[in-house]
Amino acid sequence: MDIEDINYNNDFSKDAILLVEKKFHKIYWVGSTTNNVLRNNIYLIKDKNEGIIIDCGSRYDFKSTLQRVKQVMSIYNITKLFINHQDPDVSSGIIDWLDLNPNIEIITSPNINILIQHYITEHKEYKFYNTQKYPYLKLSSGAILEFIPSPFMHSPGAVTLYDSYTKTLFSGDIWAAITINWKLVLEDDFNEHIEDMDFFHKNYIANNIASRNFLINFKDRVIETIMPQHGSILAKKHIKSAFQYLKDLKSGTDNFKYISDKELSFIDNL
Ligand SMILES: [Fe+2]
Ligand SMILES: [Fe+2]
Repeated sequence: MDIEDINYNNDFSKDAILLVEKKFHKIYWVGSTTNNVLRNNIYLIKDKNEGIIIDCGSRYDFKSTLQRVKQVMSIYNITKLFINHQDPDVSSGIIDWLDLNPNIEIITSPNINILIQHYITEHKEYKFYNTQKYPYLKLSSGAILEFIPSPFMHSPGAVTLYDSYTKTLFSGDIWAAITINWKLVLEDDFNEHIEDMDFFHKNYIANNIASRNFLINFKDRVIETIMPQHGSILAKKHIKSAFQYLKDLKSGTDNFKYISDKELSFIDNL
């Protein structure tokens, strides 16, 4: 089946959408179809009997995600939540997931872990998996997840997840797009998609140096599919264009004016 067929063969209002399947390892979309322009893509990796939620989304998304997950597996077999960064659209749902099951392990970078603790009331403890200390996680099927930092894209502590078994990159806000006319999988319209990505990237991604430092991680890693936290999934045919987009992107501080020592000489007189 062509991955684009996913756009037409599913009921997005309620289904868990199967995206990738390889033996005992499957990836589903369990996200949100609200009319909010910042609609969240939430993903589920089902590896044998274990479930890992990727970027659990906001508290508002929790109920619909649960309904979708239940179609695939018991919600109590969700053992881990991966969190790209601390923004509420990505991670405030951890409050509800930990209420449901306090044994869920939170996978993220140490920097992000410090921030997301502020979502938790009553200073509840939770299990923290440190992606900086343990950048590889082997699942029971044999699939290996790699945690690849993406500093300043956009959060300083942001971390992406590369599923080396299916060559899928869960990129968080990188390659995210903001659009009303949303399709889960991008079809042939990459040039139009650039406009939807620009809106987000030019304002959020720190600068071109950050983008290039991230891209170099993929010199020797093959990507079949990019799954961002907003907008559309990018299939293999778009990967080169997606990389070129980021390579040339001018964003954030690239558009700042340089302030010279002379202009700042007032400091000497303080
Ligand atoms: Fe964000
Ligand atoms: Fe986001």
